[in-house]
Amino acid sequence: MPLILAIESTCDETAAAVVADGYDVRSNVVATQIELHAKYRGVVPEIACRAHIENILPVLREAVETAGTRLEDLDAIAVAYRPGLIGSLLIGVTAAKTLAWALGKPLIGVDHVHAHLYSVKLETNAAPPFPAVGMVCSGGHTALYDVQDFSNITLIGTTIDDAVGEAYDKVAAILGLGYPGGPAIDQLAATGSPTAIHFPRSTLGRDSLDFSFSGLKTSVLYQVRGHKGRERGLESLTPSQVADVAASFQAACVEVLVKKIQRAAMQTRAKSIILGGGVSANRGLRAAMANFHLPVFFPPMRYCTDNAAMSAGLAALYFRDGKFSGLDLDAIAYSLFAR
Ligand code: KG4
Ligand code: ZN
Repeated sequence: MPLILAIESTCDETAAAVVADGYDVRSNVVATQIELHAKYRGVVPEIACRAHIENILPVLREAVETAGTRLEDLDAIAVAYRPGLIGSLLIGVTAAKTLAWALGKPLIGVDHVHAHLYSVKLETNAAPPFPAVGMVCSGGHTALYDVQDFSNITLIGTTIDDAVGEAYDKVAAILGLGYPGGPAIDQLAATGSPTAIHFPRSTLGRDSLDFSFSGLKTSVLYQVRGHKGRERGLESLTPSQVADVAASFQAACVEVLVKKIQRAAMQTRAKSIILGGGVSANRGLRAAMANFHLPVFFPPMRYCTDNAAMSAGLAALYFRDGKFSGLDLDAIAYSLFAR
């Protein structure tokens, strides 16, 4: 099985990794841009793109050096070429194409969302029974997939408005918790009461596998700021009331995610559940899935958020199957599997 170097630059992390055999992570370098975007409480695409240009070569060098490999020993160069911010994607795709051409190695383009699902295999080489239901929950995606195997993935449900991670980030801003909000809310939620406030759980009809989080987000806003004519501010809440809002919000999110996974598993007769993406690091979600009636696979914590190891791993499968990309590979902002 191959030794693959992958590049990830879909959003605001510049990452490179070397992975052997599809799971043995030899290096995993992630340069985060959190500090650059924190004051805007979200990713600014132009700033992200410029930071990728500055970070890409040092990150690549560190990934190769840490792995203790020589460039000529690599079997292929992989890159997440969709979906993401177009300016960000372009940097990674251009770097990967240049390396592949200069080294005379094959190029392998992978879908970033599919790579998030594959991340459950990293380090452990876990083998989920197929068909599986996959859920990618992150800052950019909340989607369900019918996973026949890791190279045969079909979208079966997605958010009609915000991604769940986006809702976490916005609620964190409402609660004055900074960016990114997911880890902060997760931590605070552990100290609050999940039943203190009953926030709405939108399930969009009996059989729907789609998601909606905008109503929940607005409901948190009204809970904290009050309604028209009776406005109040965050400062009117005690620290324990803020923790209750965080815990109650998290309970609503987790309940919806688990319910939809359950629904999807029934509809597709899945044999296991695979989760990935930044929100799959959430402790509330992990606890809620602990007693699920099917085997559940989460990525190791460090591979939940964006990284290149997951792309290098998935690319090993494509390498085996001879699924290579040409040097005309283009960055694509949207998922080809989007509805
Ligand atoms: O996968 P990721 O790094 O980027 C995208 O592809 O979007 O996910 C980042 C998202 C952010 O919205 C962040 O707030 C959220 O994942 N996140 C979490 C947790 N850790 C990260 N959300 C809830 N609980 C967490 N522990
Ligand atoms: Zn991601």
